[in-house]
Amino acid sequence: MKPIQVGLLGMGTVGSGTFNVLQRNQEEIKRRAGRAIEISMVADLDVAKAQALCGSHVKVVSDARQIIANPDIDIVVELIGGYGIAKALVLEAIAAGKHVVTANKALLAVHGTEIFAAAHAKGVMVAFEAAVAGGIPIIKALREGLTANRIQWVAGIINGTTNFILSEMREKGLDFDVVLKEAQRLGYAETDPTFDIEGVDAAHKATLMSALAFGIPVQFDKAYIEGITKLGAADIRYAEQLGYRIKLLGITKRTDAGIELRVHPSLVPTQRLIANVEGAMNAVMVQGDAVGTTLYYGKGAGSEPTASAVIADLVDITRLHTADPLSRVPHLAFQPNAMSNLKILPMSDVITSYYLRLRVADEAGVLAKLTGLLAEANISIDAVLQREADQVSQAGENQTDVIILTHDTVEGKMNEVLAQMQALPTVMAPITKIRKEELN
Ligand code: HSE
Repeated sequence: MKPIQVGLLGMGTVGSGTFNVLQRNQEEIKRRAGRAIEISMVADLDVAKAQALCGSHVKVVSDARQIIANPDIDIVVELIGGYGIAKALVLEAIAAGKHVVTANKALLAVHGTEIFAAAHAKGVMVAFEAAVAGGIPIIKALREGLTANRIQWVAGIINGTTNFILSEMREKGLDFDVVLKEAQRLGYAETDPTFDIEGVDAAHKATLMSALAFGIPVQFDKAYIEGITKLGAADIRYAEQLGYRIKLLGITKRTDAGIELRVHPSLVPTQRLIANVEGAMNAVMVQGDAVGTTLYYGKGAGSEPTASAVIADLVDITRLHTADPLSRVPHLAFQPNAMSNLKILPMSDVITSYYLRLRVADEAGVLAKLTGLLAEANISIDAVLQREADQVSQAGENQTDVIILTHDTVEGKMNEVLAQMQALPTVMAPITKIRKEELN
């Protein structure tokens, strides 16, 4: 049978990885797919560089629309990124009847509803294994492997840049700004690291996982997003003393009131496997009612790990493209006419537990006042840690850090109590609040 024809848009890190792995493992992949998979066209603005990478048997063009217009191309792989030209090209490829493989989490998290509807109407597949956690087959797990389950929650370290920074902060006792500069120097963080360090990249991925886990539309605009820029080395140290590591988690959870969708730094018990995922590695936990808790671990970025996911999608499409479109695995795991309208909860309605660090005057009654405010709001305390007085303020009184771990409470109520605490004259600095997830 004639090889299935692939057109690649963007010959960067992932594009060249895809090209190399497909070439290297072509026999193995053909035995699995039942047919050879051939990249016959590549579009890249730097034609000479792309041509040098692919060799003369591949047609390299600068205009991606030449690939979309080519009737011989069966699958378009979009590796451009962003929501600008990438969105237009994906929609045009679908309109031209091409199947699409993309690693573009931002595009699907924000415009997924429109893109999946267009693909459904046209009877083509849009596959995106590479969009979440790089080489880890978490989309496949959520969409197929765990399909028997009512999924309760998904929680993951789904941004390698921030996990690298947090690991370095903990191991070396350094502050965020210092480690970020080092991460940029080593190439772990981009020159403009905003999407990673502010949690946006993780929120794109969490949004996709929420849709797959619960059969809801992608709703990036409803995600709560908090990055790691305000974390101090002191909080990482105190968390460690209390038996926790701080990780940037993407969490989506089913509750009676609705769906939680949130990205923020979280204290995770050190004994959980996921708390020990260090450096740029990714890991995702999924809790299903039948299977229990499962954990998926691996490289979340990089040329060949991401190519591994792209090629898995190419193989899937090669196997399935002659099947009746209505019998294929649905894009978002649930049939499009069976999507749920479960609402995504505002952050003030989310129930979780907290780590609080308060810089207070070290004098009689301060701790009693703080715990009294928590008691009045019916917020139960899990643990309290007070450091020795270590600083003398200008006014001459001693100051110290008080750390309080709470049991579960609703965020809105926690925020009200925090406002009351902050207004106390004995609380000397802005209070640090970090959420805590037991993940059990
Ligand atoms: N920038 C991402 C990360 C990889 O640091 O994990 C691509 O999503």
